[in-house]
Amino acid sequence: MAPAESPSSRSAGDIALGARCPGPYHVTRGSEWQDMGIEWLPTYVCPHEEPEVTPALTAASPVERLKGVLPDVEIAALAPLFEEIEELKQRRNAVVLAHNYMTPDIYHGAADLKGDSLALARMAEKTDADVIVMAGVHFMAETAKIVNEAKTVLIPDTTAGCSLAESITGADIQLLRQRYPGVPVVTYVNTSADVKAESDICCTSSNAVKVVESLGVDRVIFLPDQYLGRWVASQTDVDVILWQGSCIVHERFTGAELRGYRQSFPGIQIIAHPECPPDVLAEADFVGSTSGMIDWVKRVRPERVVMVTECSMSDNVAAEVPETDFVRPCNLCPYMKKITLEGIRDSLRDMKYEVLVDPAVAERARRAVSRMLEVKV
Ligand code: 13P
Ligand code: SF4
Repeated sequence: MAPAESPSSRSAGDIALGARCPGPYHVTRGSEWQDMGIEWLPTYVCPHEEPEVTPALTAASPVERLKGVLPDVEIAALAPLFEEIEELKQRRNAVVLAHNYMTPDIYHGAADLKGDSLALARMAEKTDADVIVMAGVHFMAETAKIVNEAKTVLIPDTTAGCSLAESITGADIQLLRQRYPGVPVVTYVNTSADVKAESDICCTSSNAVKVVESLGVDRVIFLPDQYLGRWVASQTDVDVILWQGSCIVHERFTGAELRGYRQSFPGIQIIAHPECPPDVLAEADFVGSTSGMIDWVKRVRPERVVMVTECSMSDNVAAEVPETDFVRPCNLCPYMKKITLEGIRDSLRDMKYEVLVDPAVAERARRAVSRMLEVKV
């Protein structure tokens, strides 16, 4: 296989990435970590609690919800579009599920339910709606279809991919199984249905450690995010065999950048997503999934914080926690940003683009996803 691209050769705008992995490498909790120049990470506040599922936003209209979030003139300009979207939702008996990285107009306006990947999967499993519009990326829509096959699942833009999902195929897992016979495969949900179908169990960033430990084994193959895998390895005694996938948004943060924030803003709280490299996580006061980070800010209400993750999330949370000052480095996910209000409207109006998963693949993938959903966090 071709060598993986170095992270520094990438840019967030370069969305056709999908660097191929040069093969798995083994990380244990011993000297190999030091050989790789990785210090032991400090112990963090546990971020593995079940993310709170944000309740349905039925209380107010989108326009009312957006007051104080967007300028009034912008809200007024968007009002007819929201009206169309709400009318279409009723007509289709549809629900819009939105990931925490959506822009504020979608997150606070168009979304019926919002959350991290685990919460979105649970919501998709439980919804009574006939149609699910996924305001997120393709693997999230596929996961929704896998857990609730009877529903029509739509994604407003089929090019809303993910660099992690592109880094591995089902055939790669078959090779890994030949190389490590009997070692269970734990797969991050940021993967295709084919990859999930080859896996023993899935995980998200909010339950990864619990999922790995639930297997009761000494060693697991963890893929495809090498950084989430390293973070998991630092939190458990289970040995972790990694794949070299990475997120093009989180791999761009550096420890030096975070130390710079501490120097410029004494007392600042740094909270980071576990898809970040180890030197970034070593600087963090808290590490957790997107919903874990949001819950932390709402609970702790720090004077000043930097959320080391995709930048729309700070905009979304800042609107809900006005007393906190958010320092906002802006690393955008070009895939998430494919989803727009107009796209959501078109999706509902024209019932496009339907996400389908081959039933045989879906059945095998469902086993891995359901096993994950059964793990208590
Ligand atoms: P979460 O499950 O933490 O929301 O992560 C999804 C994701 O794509 C992060 O980059
Ligand atoms: Fe994938 Fe990273 Fe974008 Fe999340 S933020 S969808 S992991 S590329």
